[in-house]
Amino acid sequence: MLQAEGIKVRYGEIEAIHGVDLTVGEREVVALIGANGAGKSTTLGAISGLLPTTAGKITFAGNDVTGWPADKISRSGMALTPEGRRVFAQLTVAENLMLGGAAHAGRVERMQRQDELLELFPILRARMTQKAGNMSGGEQQMLAIARSLMSRPKLLLLDEPSLGLAPQMIDKVFDLIGALRKAGLSILLVEQNVALALEIADRASVLRGGSIALSGDADELASSDLVRQAYLGVH
Ligand SMILES: Nc1ncnc2c1ncn2[C@@H]1O[C@H](COP(=O)(O)OP(=O)(O)OP(=O)(O)O)[C@@H](O)[C@H]1O
Ligand SMILES: [Mg+2]
Repeated sequence: MLQAEGIKVRYGEIEAIHGVDLTVGEREVVALIGANGAGKSTTLGAISGLLPTTAGKITFAGNDVTGWPADKISRSGMALTPEGRRVFAQLTVAENLMLGGAAHAGRVERMQRQDELLELFPILRARMTQKAGNMSGGEQQMLAIARSLMSRPKLLLLDEPSLGLAPQMIDKVFDLIGALRKAGLSILLVEQNVALALEIADRASVLRGGSIALSGDADELASSDLVRQAYLGVH
């Protein structure tokens, strides 16, 4: 589904990621974990075409998408839910959703897609006419994910979906990720909640200082000394 090989990104003089390799298979959930500033969001930005790469190759759904603009990558079946949600606070939930698929499909198809999605997002169904800005952080996160799914992606990139949410909402977000996988989606999950991320993921990679320090099956990583000490607080 997705293969990134040796990708590098610089911000001006400074190289933020130094040759990252990452793969996500069909229906797989892959977690990308690492400390603040490790380069997780930069990696997602490079894969989704929002940030230019200075080296490496990105293959997605059978195409070499290296250097493709973000909108073309999005139309080929990839969606990103960025860090910090970013819903349109002044617009209603329904309006936010309809904007989600706007570049991909006409209104009738988007209405259909919205109906399907509301099955997975009961929280949103009751709030369709409410302004997004008046919802809780967790509800806004659900809306941000639902909006990303309006384009019917094959691969979803999720950047820190649980950040700043109440524990109960974190559980709901992770239940949703499980449901999305069941529905056939492939997911690349960036998370600071390492324990939960490794629980739901099939495989995981640890990013440290802009390079992959460790990759493997999520269970293996969860029991590795490096992950236990650095990210799970076990000494
Ligand atoms: N727009 C930018 N301009 C310059 N440097 C940047 C920019 N965005 C990120 N960086 C730097 O690149 C490195 C990687 O940042 P990135 O946001 O990818 O990390 P992250 O792993 O997502 O961190 P966090 O957990 O805080 O979200 C950091 O050193 C950061 O300061
Ligand atoms: Mg980040």
